[in-house]
Amino acid sequence: MSIISHDIAQAITLLNTDDVVAIPTETVYGLAGNIYSEQAIKKIFAVKKRPLFNPLIVHVATIAQAEALVLGFPEKAQKLAQAFWPGSLTLILKKKPTVPDLITAGKDSVALRIPNHPVTLELLNRLDFPLAAPSANPFGSISPTQASHVNDYFKDAINMVLDGGTCTNGLESTIIGFENDEAVVYRLGSIALEEIIAVIGNVTIKNTKDSAPLAPGMLSRHYAPSTKTYLVDDVALFIANHAGKKIGVITHDQQVTATPLLVLKRLSQTANLKEAAAVLYSTMHELDRLKLDLIVAQRFPDYGMGKSINDRLERATKTN
Ligand code: TXA
Ligand code: MG
Repeated sequence: MSIISHDIAQAITLLNTDDVVAIPTETVYGLAGNIYSEQAIKKIFAVKKRPLFNPLIVHVATIAQAEALVLGFPEKAQKLAQAFWPGSLTLILKKKPTVPDLITAGKDSVALRIPNHPVTLELLNRLDFPLAAPSANPFGSISPTQASHVNDYFKDAINMVLDGGTCTNGLESTIIGFENDEAVVYRLGSIALEEIIAVIGNVTIKNTKDSAPLAPGMLSRHYAPSTKTYLVDDVALFIANHAGKKIGVITHDQQVTATPLLVLKRLSQTANLKEAAAVLYSTMHELDRLKLDLIVAQRFPDYGMGKSINDRLERATKTN
């Protein structure tokens, strides 16, 4: 029997009895559990093979529920929440002692967001507790943007994937914290930097291992296919230099001549960066299944979603 289902009532039953359920969001699928259930949270870490030092994002249905978990809500955080919630923005705020340390990996802060997906909003509204949910993939691999991706990863290690269709944004949330009241971007994501700046003015970016040793998700290698993957400016040149190899090619505007050895994937027919972000991971999943020799991606323009896409491609191609 497939574990993929549309049955919200069944998801509620599982979550109410300390089990985990994969849930749809507009960014990527998450692997969710009751933040107050030690059993559920431990299962999330175990199923993902995620190190315990890497904290989880807490998902709530309303700003009031977010406020109930934190000591304070700085003005800039309020502006961002007003502008982007429900949506693909995660805020890191000082936590109340009632938020379990297992969720936050012992940190004094908690990551919070209201996801913008009708199925998961209904689920959250019908539960008595918030849901901790990291992306529903084994640690370090590509995040799932379809229920089938989650099923392929975890099979019978979990009891249910709540099907909410294909994730519309397709890239994880943008993560923002505050240092001395200044906003700091810890992860580029589905809300473009320009959109953030339009609401609160300039921000600092600390999204590398060196600049943000306290945000472990910024590990350099992440989001990686099992096929060796490269990021270049000129894919035609790369292909010419790798004659005889079976190559999966991810482009946005470059024209590449088809040959029997190439699998060509143009992420957006109109060079639309949001459209490209939405299908990036599903394209990487698809190419990874083909057992090619190499995957090569063309670097995107360094603005809007292009910046977030490049961040993921850089981490996917790192070797350490
Ligand atoms: O779009 C998303 O954010 C998805 C969906 C499911 O909501 N979730 C997601 O979770 O991407 P995950 O666990 O794959 O990434 C969460 C990131 C990690 O890099 C983690 O280190 C960081 O958030 N994080 C969580 N709590 C933190 C905290 N208190 N301080 C700093 N970083 C934190
Ligand atoms: Mg993740």
